Amino acid sequence: MHKRVFLNAVALAIASLSSTAVLADGNSFKIGLILPMTGQQASTGRQIEAAARLYMAQNGDTVAGKKIELIVKDDTTVPDMTKRLAQELVVNDKVNVLAGFGITPSALATAPIATQSKTPQVVMAAATSSITEASPYIVRTSFTLPQASVSLADWAPKNGIKKVVTLVSDYGPGIDAEKFFKERLIFNGGQVVESLRVPLRGPDFAPFLQKVRDLKPDALFVFVPSGAGAAVMKQFLERGMDKAGIKLIGTGDITDDDQLNDMGDGALGVVTSHHYSTYHPSAVNKKFVEAFQKANKGMRPNFMAVGGYDGMRVIYEALKVTKGNGGGDALLAAMKGQIFESPRGPMFIDAQTRDVVQNIYLRKVERKDGQLYNVEFDVIKDVKDPGKAR
Ligand code: PHB
Repeated sequence: MHKRVFLNAVALAIASLSSTAVLADGNSFKIGLILPMTGQQASTGRQIEAAARLYMAQNGDTVAGKKIELIVKDDTTVPDMTKRLAQELVVNDKVNVLAGFGITPSALATAPIATQSKTPQVVMAAATSSITEASPYIVRTSFTLPQASVSLADWAPKNGIKKVVTLVSDYGPGIDAEKFFKERLIFNGGQVVESLRVPLRGPDFAPFLQKVRDLKPDALFVFVPSGAGAAVMKQFLERGMDKAGIKLIGTGDITDDDQLNDMGDGALGVVTSHHYSTYHPSAVNKKFVEAFQKANKGMRPNFMAVGGYDGMRVIYEALKVTKGNGGGDALLAAMKGQIFESPRGPMFIDAQTRDVVQNIYLRKVERKDGQLYNVEFDVIKDVKDPGKAR
């Protein structure tokens, strides 16, 4: 008899335990944020995590009655690890959304998991054009390299730059940058006399730069991923390339706001094209930069931070619309077509491609208020990814 009572009590306890567990689960909304917090792209992880936390601090952690739970995982900049973490987050943690993805191979490795589990995958950093085609569950809030490169190839020949050497990291985004810059430059009457590719991991730019010097182009066009720009700039200047009359141009990844202020006066005058500058003169951006710096010991938000911040917004708004009902498919539908003002300027998520449509700015490095900034001097409005047009 005693035993029976005891067992009943245990059964009751288990029942009530599991019902609270279910309740807690039903009331929470989990975002699995996979980022390179260590390894080569660690600055990307640092920026995006800070931006995601700022978004939550500003907008609360309860949306449509659900408690938002941010689960941050470090993939150490290793794509196999990204995939394993994504699998664990979907199967064990039952996350509602996967987000982050510091480099293209990490985003691509996760795509099949998003598809199989019908989990929206919000790509906040990686920028190879084809990523959004790897799964119908991918939505992107960063940018694409064709988007950033084409505008610079329109600007260059009108500004005395006809003969160019390209130098890119040898993987997805670099190959996109090389191809789209070159095609457009040729279309505009310019020429690319040499296309150089450097390894993604631990590149030594010295032998490549020597070659560029010998070729004497009007300009060197560079793409390297966020965080690697300072090394290029240093070696470019050390080799006296600027004094030899070779201009440095590229996508804004090389004059990354995370590093720009430490690059020194040698960076002055470098022209790049990109979707975000910390110096973007809008009220929304000024507010964002101020709050970000206040929350992060003065750290400057770069384009990665903005990709993370806007990605959180896309997730929050989708949850508001669906009220957490309908699972991944409903969330995805509510992400498509979102249109809003980002710190970068106006942006929208193209419902057809799930990719970002945004302004691309031409910028020049200038000293303002004692600091180095990418100062915008021209804008090409509402640019769709040119990589999708073919
Ligand atoms: C990418 O791997 O897709 C990537 C990484 C860093 C960038 C741009 C693209 O700055």
